[in-house]
Amino acid sequence: MWSQVPTPGWVGTGRTQDGRGAEGNTRRQFFAPFGDLDVPKGFVKNGDAIDWWLPIQALFVPSIILAWRLDFPPSLYLAAFVLLWLVFRSNLRDRVPFYLTNRGTWLAVSEILPRHGAFKFVDLGCGWGGGLAVLAKQCKSGEFLGVESAPLPFLLGWLSFRRDANCRIRFGDFWNEDLGCYDVVYAFLSPAPMPRLWRKARNEMKPGSLFISNTFGVPDLPPNETLTLQDVRAAKLLVWRM
Ligand SMILES: C[S@@+](CC[C@H](N)C(=O)[O-])C[C@H]1O[C@@H](n2cnc3c(N)ncnc32)[C@H](O)[C@@H]1O
Repeated sequence: MWSQVPTPGWVGTGRTQDGRGAEGNTRRQFFAPFGDLDVPKGFVKNGDAIDWWLPIQALFVPSIILAWRLDFPPSLYLAAFVLLWLVFRSNLRDRVPFYLTNRGTWLAVSEILPRHGAFKFVDLGCGWGGGLAVLAKQCKSGEFLGVESAPLPFLLGWLSFRRDANCRIRFGDFWNEDLGCYDVVYAFLSPAPMPRLWRKARNEMKPGSLFISNTFGVPDLPPNETLTLQDVRAAKLLVWRM
């Protein structure tokens, strides 16, 4: 893919790649627009994630038995259902649950971003936008937007950002967002929406902009770079240059 994009540059930042072509297709070249960066601290390239689903699933049956024995009033189940709907609403349609990128991964994302020069970043499905706050602190020249369709996380984020100059969070569906407005698009979703999201990104994103997916790949389309965090989750950042 790199060789098909000879000298991509950052729209809006005035920076360009060093133009060494496909041969110098290393991360240093890939991120050269933002200076002499190496693989972020705590990452190894192309590592494997550990499986953290099994312990969670193993807790399901014991939890049901415990709840049954404790004989809670029905209203508690209704309240729990409403609370879960307010947080996990997007599961129903997009099959994307609510869980958060950890701070170490956000710091690694911030390493990829420019420290100077204006740029626009969007987090598709931003939760309550905690990551946007981390990035905005690290990269003061950026404009950070989050789009979220779950009511409760949106409300929490909106309240915390309402006086912030370079961070915003919008209630809505990211499928309606024009990705052509952004220099960096970040997504931490699930395998389900990735093929459709990639088609949207490919159709709308500007040449030279970055599409970053935390953990979830695009079928049959390897990223230009894979960075794996050396923590218990071994989170992967998959990076495509458009
Ligand atoms: C795995 S969480 C990631 C949260 C945040 N981006 C992070 O990395 O910490 C995915 C989020 O996407 C939201 N979401 C799923 N589908 C969406 C849609 N179509 N429009 C807006 N948000 C959506 C979910 O509600 C959830 O908060």
